[in-house]
Amino acid sequence: MTSYRIFFEMKREPFAADVELEHILVTPALNAVSERMHYAMNIGAMALVTGEIGSGKSTALRYVTEKLHPSEYRSLYIVATTGAISELYRQLLHTLGACMKGVSKAIMLQSIKNELYELVHGKKLKTVLVIDEASLLRIEVFAELHTLTQFEKDSKPYLPIVLAGQSNLVDSLMYRASMPLASRIVARSHLEGVSRAQMHEYLQHHLAICGTAHDIFDEAAVTAIHQGSGGLFRKANHLARGAIIIAAKNKSMTVTADHVRMAASEIF
Ligand SMILES: Nc1ncnc2c1ncn2[C@@H]1O[C@H](COP(=O)(O)OP(=O)(O)OP(=O)(O)O)[C@@H](O)[C@H]1O
Ligand SMILES: [Mg+2]
Repeated sequence: MTSYRIFFEMKREPFAADVELEHILVTPALNAVSERMHYAMNIGAMALVTGEIGSGKSTALRYVTEKLHPSEYRSLYIVATTGAISELYRQLLHTLGACMKGVSKAIMLQSIKNELYELVHGKKLKTVLVIDEASLLRIEVFAELHTLTQFEKDSKPYLPIVLAGQSNLVDSLMYRASMPLASRIVARSHLEGVSRAQMHEYLQHHLAICGTAHDIFDEAAVTAIHQGSGGLFRKANHLARGAIIIAAKNKSMTVTADHVRMAASEIF
């Protein structure tokens, strides 16, 4: 075990990136994302989740999709690439458990629709396509993506879509070519830096996860982490962990603003 964990009696790595479902802090912003995603899913439409880098978008998507009951829902989670739409179709087929190699785009699209039709009508499941990092998608992909939601057999929308990514995702959706897709959006949420009070709660929450009952950050350290991170969770994680390591090296049971400042000099 690392020496700082021994020093602070932490039973696991503090401020880890991979928080389990039960350890996700349910913030007001997370609830807002959840509500909007469910609304779009219920009416078979689209929701947009944008936010600053490291603000908790992917965690929010995971929170909502992992809580869906598998007997009711099948969520299809994809991390977008900068590739063509055929790449996205391939990823989607892979997620659906139907790998295809060397076939045309049209055949892949038809196979995806067949799989979806089977999920909805055969297995009586609801579906949702979640595309994280959607700000990376090319405009041509936005122009075609809506065809996934159209079915020749009936006009009922089968596939609600959630697009998540950085704020420039909105710019991509403003293009004329993206309009058919953008017109399906019924709900939007934007995650940004949290307040100091929420940051304090966030820090305590992560300390509790690793079994540190007492608040090891002093008031000025909380302020320094809040200011240094702009209220963004990933940066706050790095600052908090870095400061903990420095405090332990200095045999200080309290993490101070100085420790945070020293940690800040090493991160971007
Ligand atoms: N609700 C939460 N509860 C606990 N920890 C969280 C929560 N949201 C975010 N985090 C922490 O912050 C880190 C960054 O969050 P996340 O990866 O979800 O951000 P993001 O907005 O998707 O970032 P990027 O812009 O790089 O895609 C997570 O690895 C996790 O440690
Ligand atoms: Mg992310």
